Amino acid sequence: MLNVLQVSGLSHSYGKRRWWNRTETHSPVLEDISIDLEKGCCLGLLGSSGAGKSTLGKIILGLQRPSKGQVLFEGCNLYSTNRGMPKSVRRDLQVVFQDCYSAVNPMMTAAQIIGEPLRNYESLSLAEMHRRIGELLEQVGLRVEDGAKRPEQFSGGQLQRVNIARAIALKPKLIVLDESISSLDMVHQVRILDLLTELKEKHGLSYLFITHDIQAAMSICDRIAIMEQGRVVYNSDDPESVFLSDHPAVKQLVSAILPNHPSDLTYRDN
Ligand SMILES: Nc1ncnc2c1ncn2[C@@H]1O[C@H](COP(=O)(O)OP(=O)(O)OP(=O)(O)O)[C@@H](O)[C@H]1O
Ligand SMILES: [Mg+2]
Repeated sequence: MLNVLQVSGLSHSYGKRRWWNRTETHSPVLEDISIDLEKGCCLGLLGSSGAGKSTLGKIILGLQRPSKGQVLFEGCNLYSTNRGMPKSVRRDLQVVFQDCYSAVNPMMTAAQIIGEPLRNYESLSLAEMHRRIGELLEQVGLRVEDGAKRPEQFSGGQLQRVNIARAIALKPKLIVLDESISSLDMVHQVRILDLLTELKEKHGLSYLFITHDIQAAMSICDRIAIMEQGRVVYNSDDPESVFLSDHPAVKQLVSAILPNHPSDLTYRDN
């Protein structure tokens, strides 16, 4: 299988901080990370707060030059030169962050937001553009009429679905989802997870799914990696095997799974 992403020997620290007349060097945020992602697969990245997940996500997106190591996206070294990323790579690499409001221009309508990547990368007729935008709105569980609304007229969960529609519009090769669905209610979380799985199977999209929700990760991911203090402490292509791991960070995540109903507690204790 082809790797869409190859991260090797990646380390990062956020530079120096001046505090009065002292200069403090930040301790490393990432230490010697090597991780691969196969085409058409979803890699779940979990770990406690501050473990370095978002930093790794930003480096993979070409947004943060690492102190050491390399990132190959489809064989292209993202940090080989000081020039920005080639346009073709940018098209194939999309992101949905947790903060849905800061990701959009408040003056644009949902249809304009979703249509932006289509306008930038594809030359579609007006009718085809409307059709594609309508289809994308419906895919994420919004109505075609919602395309006329501005960000302030949506709830957080609805606006996040606009962001997801924009990210999938070009059927990119890799989408980094950083805590992107945690603001959605359960019904829409399931709907988006189903949609992501369908796109993965139909179009070979790959995902880096950063989350605190191990159950959501297990439902969609082909591989799960767990980070602790800047290191990958668990990485397996058998998501179920998290239950067998002896590593304290993995055990802590697994023990955080709550029963669906209090009566399940007796079942869990057995
Ligand atoms: N721009 C920055 N400048 C300095 N330090 C930073 C910066 N961004 C993150 N850090 C530090 O890097 C470490 C890792 O942060 P990161 O946001 O990658 O963690 P995370 O695993 O995504 O956490 P969370 O689950 O809370 O989102 C933290 O100690 C954080 O304080
Ligand atoms: Mg984060």
